[in-house]
Amino acid sequence: MTSKRASQGARHVAIIMDGNGRWARKRHLPRALGHKRGVEAVRKVVRAAGDMGLEALTLYAFSTENWRRPEDEISALMGLMKAFILADLDEFAEAGVRLKIIGDYRKFSPDVVELIEGALKRTATNTGTTLVVALNYGSQDEIARAAANAAAKGAVTVESIEAELDTAGLPPLDLLIRTSGEVRLSNFLLWQAAYAEMLFLDTLWPDFTPEHLQAALDDFAKRERRYGGR
Ligand code: IPE
Ligand code: IPE
Ligand code: MG
Repeated sequence: MTSKRASQGARHVAIIMDGNGRWARKRHLPRALGHKRGVEAVRKVVRAAGDMGLEALTLYAFSTENWRRPEDEISALMGLMKAFILADLDEFAEAGVRLKIIGDYRKFSPDVVELIEGALKRTATNTGTTLVVALNYGSQDEIARAAANAAAKGAVTVESIEAELDTAGLPPLDLLIRTSGEVRLSNFLLWQAAYAEMLFLDTLWPDFTPEHLQAALDDFAKRERRYGGR
């Protein structure tokens, strides 16, 4: 057996969708418009993920730290979330997309929670791409909750923690992409990224297209993953 293996195709890709604010600022537009264009990028990328045969696409939409933003920006983001579910759920549900949320979305306002739960129910038995949306998600919070649950059930081991993570049941994370030129994880999938490949792009999220995703998958397929072995 050769030690140099090309990667198989990616099954699970996660994206830190960053740069909406800078996209708007560059154009002297309000930040909210950057977020709006960001949602349009999401729409196209979710469609493409299905066509590209991804089993799971995880999108970082709102972090546990994003509550530090001004109230008007948070409410613009909530409004966009609602509008996205209302406008796009039918199409994605019919395309076989299964929705999954990681993070504690129950901290959002009741109307948002209700829409999310409706969408979860509606797509629960779908068997296409799993669209995982990280909402009020923070990896440290997730790991702490998982460890507490594992402890309550008995032994605290790598496996017992993993089984309690919000991502339990998803394929292992293959590729983590961050847009906007920032090279940090911002409390996203810290556990799951242990052996994920990373790709940091200068592109601002509203400018991200399915072509960028395809290029990322092509790049991933050429990488040699070793998992500590040789
Ligand atoms: C990412 O864009 C979207 C969210 C965090 C919700 P930003 O709003 O962080 O954009 P920048 O980083 O300020 O450009
Ligand atoms: C990470 O982006 C969170 C999301 C994309 C939802 P941020 O813009 O919040 O991250 P920092 O503050 O630059 O690290
Ligand atoms: Mg940002």
